Amino acid sequence: MDNGHSDLYPPLERIHRDAHVSSFEQYKEMYQRSIEDPAGFWDEISKQFFWKSPPTGEFLQYNFDCNKGPISIKWMDGAQTNICYNALDRNIDRGMGDKIAFYWEGNNPNDQGSITFKKLLEEVCKFSNVLKKIGIKKGDRIAIYMPMILELIVAMLACARIGAVHSIIFAGYSSDSLAGRILDAKCHIVITADGVWRGAKLLNVKKIVDDAVDICTKSSHEVRTCVVVRHLSPSEEDVSNLKHDENTEPPASRPSLKLKINWHDGRDVWWHDIMTGQSPECEAEWMMAEDPLFMLYTSGSTGKPKGVLHTVAGYMLYSATTFKFVFDYHPGEVYWCTADVGWITGHTYTCYGPLNNGATGIIFEGVPFFPDAGRFWAIIEKYKVAKFYTAPTAIRALMKYDDSFVTKYDRSTLKVLGTVGEPINPEAWLWYYNVVGNKQCAIVDTFWQTETGGHVITPLPGATTTKPGSATFPFFGVVPVILDEEGREITEPNKEGYLVFKQPWPGIMRTVYGNHERFETTYFKKFPGYYCTGDGGKKDSDGYIWVTGRIDDMVNVSGHLLSTAEIESALVEHHKVAEAAVVSHPHKIKGECTYCFVTLKEGETFSEELGSELKTKVRTKIGPFAMPDFVQNAPSLPKTRSGKIMRRILRKIAVGDRDVGDITTLADETVIESLFNLRPDDA
Ligand code: WT7
Repeated sequence: MDNGHSDLYPPLERIHRDAHVSSFEQYKEMYQRSIEDPAGFWDEISKQFFWKSPPTGEFLQYNFDCNKGPISIKWMDGAQTNICYNALDRNIDRGMGDKIAFYWEGNNPNDQGSITFKKLLEEVCKFSNVLKKIGIKKGDRIAIYMPMILELIVAMLACARIGAVHSIIFAGYSSDSLAGRILDAKCHIVITADGVWRGAKLLNVKKIVDDAVDICTKSSHEVRTCVVVRHLSPSEEDVSNLKHDENTEPPASRPSLKLKINWHDGRDVWWHDIMTGQSPECEAEWMMAEDPLFMLYTSGSTGKPKGVLHTVAGYMLYSATTFKFVFDYHPGEVYWCTADVGWITGHTYTCYGPLNNGATGIIFEGVPFFPDAGRFWAIIEKYKVAKFYTAPTAIRALMKYDDSFVTKYDRSTLKVLGTVGEPINPEAWLWYYNVVGNKQCAIVDTFWQTETGGHVITPLPGATTTKPGSATFPFFGVVPVILDEEGREITEPNKEGYLVFKQPWPGIMRTVYGNHERFETTYFKKFPGYYCTGDGGKKDSDGYIWVTGRIDDMVNVSGHLLSTAEIESALVEHHKVAEAAVVSHPHKIKGECTYCFVTLKEGETFSEELGSELKTKVRTKIGPFAMPDFVQNAPSLPKTRSGKIMRRILRKIAVGDRDVGDITTLADETVIESLFNLRPDDA
C-alpha cells in the first residue's frame, strides 16, 4: 500500500464526462494558477458571491513565519458580506426559493420532513429576531448543543445572519465537556432540545445542559437563557410545517414518551413559544471579511480543548468551492453527508458548503445500525442520493455484514462516495468502491482538519486517478510539504515525515479563541514558515500523498480526535489513581482506540471492577465516544531518568510487541517486563 505501484483507479467515463474538472491536465493547470497567484485565483471565485462591498484592497495578506512576527492571515480584508445571506437570499434570488434545502430523516424510518430554501430563510429570520430580542449582538458567542434536527441548521444560520459567533458542541459530549466549552467562550446563551432518540437509545439532552449550566454557575458564570426545542412528543400544534410540509405524508407519531425534563423559569424558554409572532424578515448584518463566523473546539495535546476560530469570507469561499469541486456537485442532485453538524464535517459539508451551492442535503437524526445495518443504503435509495460522504469507521463497521444489506437497495443514482476522518485502509476502500459503488462511482478520500476549514488533500472525481488508501493531491491553493525532524524538505519518495503546508488557503483557521499564542505554538513553532498538521505523511514515486496518522499525543478514535492528556486527567480524578498514561492502540472498526496504564495509590489494589469504573469515569467526563477499550494496572511506568514517561514503549506493550527498541535512557528497565505480565487477557 505504500509504494507507487498499488492499483490505479482512473476516473470513470460516466463521472468525468460532465465534471467541473474533467481531466488531470485541467486540474494541474488550475492548481498551478492557484498557487502562483492565489489572490487572482480566489478573486475570480469571489465574484460568484454577494458582497455588500466587494474585495478591493489587497486580497491576501499573511505571515506564516513566527520568526518574522505574529502569525496572521487575512483574506479580502475590508470587504463586507454575510454567509447566511449568500446561502439563502442569494439562492432564492436566483429562483431557488421552492427548491428543497434539506430533507430531514428521523431516527425512526417513518419520521421525515423537508424544508425549502424560502421556508428556511423565514425560520432563520424569525430566530434571528429572537436572538436580537434576547439581547444578542454581533460578536457574542452562542453555545449550541442540539441533535440532528432542522432547528440546529436554523440556529446556526441565524447566528451567522446577525453576526453572533456560534460554538456548536456535539450533543454526545458530557456535561463537563460542555461546561468547559461554555466557560471558555463565555457564552450566556445555550440553544438545545429536550431529548433525542439515537437508535434504540434515548438521550436526555436537556439534563446534560442543566448539569453543564450548574457547573458554570459554580464557576461564577451565568447562562442567562436556554432555548429548548420541543423535539420529543410534540403536541398537535407544534408539529409545524417546518418539519412536515403539506406535500409529504403526515408525520409518523414520534415515540411519545414522557421525558422528564426540569424547567428553570426565567432561564429556560421553549423555542416554539419564543418564535411565535416573530417577523419572518431580518436584514443580514454586514460582516467584515475577517470577522469571526464560528468557533469549534478540537482536542489539544495539552488536554485543554482549543476553540478553533474561522472567519466569514475566507471560510465561505473555501467551503463552497471545495464542496463544488470535490463532490463535483451539479444542480438537482441530492447530496448526503452523514456527519453530525457538531463536527467540522457537518459545519462545512452538511451546512455551509452545500447551501452556498444551492444544493439539496439531508439531515439524518439516526445511526447506521437502526433499525438495521441497511439504513444508510435505504436512505440513499429513498432520496436518490448522488453524492455520499461518510467516515471509514462507519464503512468498516458496515462491511462486516452481509453484502445483501447494501445490494438490496437501489444505488444507481450514486456517483461520488467520499470518506473523511482518518486514513482509510485499502480493504475498506475497495468494499466501498466495489460493493457500495458497484464499480460505478468515484471514491474521494478527503484529508482535512477542523483547523483547515475544508478539504486540503483530496482527489477530484473527474480528474484524479486514485489509489486505495491515498488522499492523492492538494486542493487548489494548498501546498503540502513533507519535512524531516530538522525541518528539511523530504523529496525522496516513500520517506515518512511531518505533513505541513507552506502558504495559507482561504479556509484556514485564524486563531485559537482567546489564545493567539497557543495558535502560534501549536501550529507554527516547530517549523517556522509552515502550518504543521500534526500528521505524518509521505509522497510516493508518483507524487501521491499518503497520510500516515497523528504524530503527536492524539488518538483518532472513529474519526474523533482525543488527546491522551485529556483522558489521563479524567483518570487521575479517580481517588484510587495516582498516575495515568494513555496511548493509542489499533482497533479493527474504530481505527484506533485508547489503552490506559494506571498506577494506583499506595494500598489500593487493581480489579476488573476498578477497570470498568475507570472506563465509565472517562465516559462521563468526556463523552461516550471517548470510552477507553483497555485499562491496565501499572505499578510503575517506564520513565527516563528525568522522569518523562516513555510512551513509545507503552505503545509497544499495549500491542504485546516485545521489540521495544532502545531502552538505555530508562531509569528502571524491569518495569517493562512487569507491564508485559500485567496485560489484560483481551488485549
Ligand atoms: C485529523 C483531523 C476533517 C474532518 C474530520 C476530522 C485525521 C482526517 C483524514 C484522511 C487520513 C485523516 C488526521 C487529521 N484525518 N481525514 N482522509 N486520511 N487522516 O477532523 O477532528 O479535526 O481531525 O483527522 O489525523 O489531522 P478533526
